[in-house]
Amino acid sequence: MTDEFAGLRGRVALVTGAGTGIGEGVARKLHSAGMRLALADIDGDGVARIAEELGDDTRAFALDVTDSAAVNAGVAEIEDSLGPIDGLAHVVGIQRFGTIVEMAEDDFDAVFSANVRGAFLVTKAVAARMMPRERGSIVAVASTAARTPRVRQGAYCGSKAAVAQMMRVLALELAPHNIRVNCVSPGVTDTGMVKRLIDTMDTPEVVIEGSLEAFRVGVPLGRLARSEEIADVIAFLLSDRSTYLTMQDIVVDGGGALGA
Ligand SMILES: NC(=O)c1ccc[n+]([C@@H]2O[C@H](COP(=O)([O-])OP(=O)(O)OC[C@H]3O[C@@H](n4cnc5c(N)ncnc54)[C@H](O)[C@@H]3O)[C@@H](O)[C@H]2O)c1
Repeated sequence: MTDEFAGLRGRVALVTGAGTGIGEGVARKLHSAGMRLALADIDGDGVARIAEELGDDTRAFALDVTDSAAVNAGVAEIEDSLGPIDGLAHVVGIQRFGTIVEMAEDDFDAVFSANVRGAFLVTKAVAARMMPRERGSIVAVASTAARTPRVRQGAYCGSKAAVAQMMRVLALELAPHNIRVNCVSPGVTDTGMVKRLIDTMDTPEVVIEGSLEAFRVGVPLGRLARSEEIADVIAFLLSDRSTYLTMQDIVVDGGGALGA
């Protein structure tokens, strides 16, 4: 057994959005590192299936991260059943497409509710319990969309910029309590979310090759990311390999944001 993710074995992590995609990849990675896991998702069946497959020390929680009562009750239940949460990987996020002029208010509200309110409620509930214990690591998934404008993704880009900045503030507020807070910003990653994005495009290859018309740079590494490549960085940030690392937003995008 290597010490690749030092300090994770036996510790407790909460992974939100663990029912599929990047969250599922994070769950599998942390499980292989020996963590005891609470997997939360609005898709209760999805997390139940994964928890059953991963077996002992992994519990599934059907949870809508926009519901504050459910989040608070869920976090309390997780700590009652698994013990104090040492690491949080907040992965939940949704997309709605449309130019800002055309986007329906309901779609805008849905994106900000799931992405920004969700991050606020989950990190608040977990951080409040970490503070008296004076330990913990929090990672939220933002996106390269936080720094690179994308046509028809105004609500999503705005919500991810809000998450990234809110996490910097949280990092500042929690540093005196020995709690680290960071973001991971994936580029295009091979999940249901990217499949739905590609479905909206006449020419799907622009995701990798770029599009002058959409001012979209391609991916220099020439392929989509795999969920486990995002999960590796999240596991590193939760581990004792990164004990002096806080307030950062680590971009994992195959060069798609040109280092910006
Ligand atoms: N896939 C990409 O290319 C990409 C790129 C950059 C950032 N991201 C971000 O990574 C994260 C994961 O994306 P993904 O591609 O795995 O998405 P996905 O759509 O495949 O999975 C998202 C998961 O979140 C869950 N979820 C949605 N709303 C929820 C809610 N209110 N409460 C609880 N669970 C909820 C869904 O049920 C699903 O299991 C998101 O924050 C996304 O914005 C993805």
